[in-house]
Amino acid sequence: MIEVSNIQKKFGKLEVLKDINFTIDRPGVFAVLGHNGSGKTTMLKILLGMVLPNQGQIKIDGKDIGGTWAYRKQIAYLPQIARFPENLTVKELIKMIQDIRNEKGKADQLVCQFGLNKFLDKKLSELSGGTRQKVNIVLAFMFDSSICILDEPTAGLDPVALIELKRLIESEKRNGKIILITTHIMSLVEELAEEIIFLLDGKIHFQGSLDQLGKETEEDDLEHAIAAMLVA
Ligand SMILES: Nc1ncnc2c1ncn2[C@@H]1O[C@H](COP(=O)(O)OP(=O)(O)OP(=O)(O)O)[C@@H](O)[C@H]1O
Ligand SMILES: [Mg+2]
Repeated sequence: MIEVSNIQKKFGKLEVLKDINFTIDRPGVFAVLGHNGSGKTTMLKILLGMVLPNQGQIKIDGKDIGGTWAYRKQIAYLPQIARFPENLTVKELIKMIQDIRNEKGKADQLVCQFGLNKFLDKKLSELSGGTRQKVNIVLAFMFDSSICILDEPTAGLDPVALIELKRLIESEKRNGKIILITTHIMSLVEELAEEIIFLLDGKIHFQGSLDQLGKETEEDDLEHAIAAMLVA
């Protein structure tokens, strides 16, 4: 369970998050939506303790995360921009993360699923953008975490990898996990998400199901419903 209360975040004079409140009290896929620069990545990083809010409180499974770190072990994170030392090979990077966590996880299975076997001995600097993203997906999903935070997970993926990613997300969902995902691809939201959390002007403008959103905006498809909220 995730409870976010009265979160405020400023970068200098820029007030990115003004008053964010939402609760996730069941497993499933929750899509965090909003225009570029609306604060989605900032909000997700606050959940991870990577950005500190100016005000507000976050509770995970009833416990205030302020000043603590052990809770992060139960969160898998796929960052929007992942940075690792470029001279490491894929194999070395996976091993480094396994060593830090002191467990093997299901890396081998995921490497196979995303067709990465032939890239294991390649340096990160040699990989294409989409292949890098596949490596990031392996790193994010290799350990069993009750919460998954996926920031633009589809970036650069080809259709085959996209299908595998959707399979992975569906199977995590079936395993009772909370999956928070940001994306600008509305078809992905329509396919996967049970709930939308829509950020606008530093606040949660809407939280609810796709059906509720359709009814509120009187629009049939998600793209138009979101556009209707942006211009309202
Ligand atoms: N470390 C930082 N220092 C200063 N400003 C920042 C910092 N991080 C983010 N911002 C600003 O905060 C705002 C929100 O950024 P954020 O990355 O959270 O947006 P986003 O909703 O994830 O956007 P996108 O859809 O492009 O990924 C932007 O105006 C950004 O420039
Ligand atoms: Mg972002």
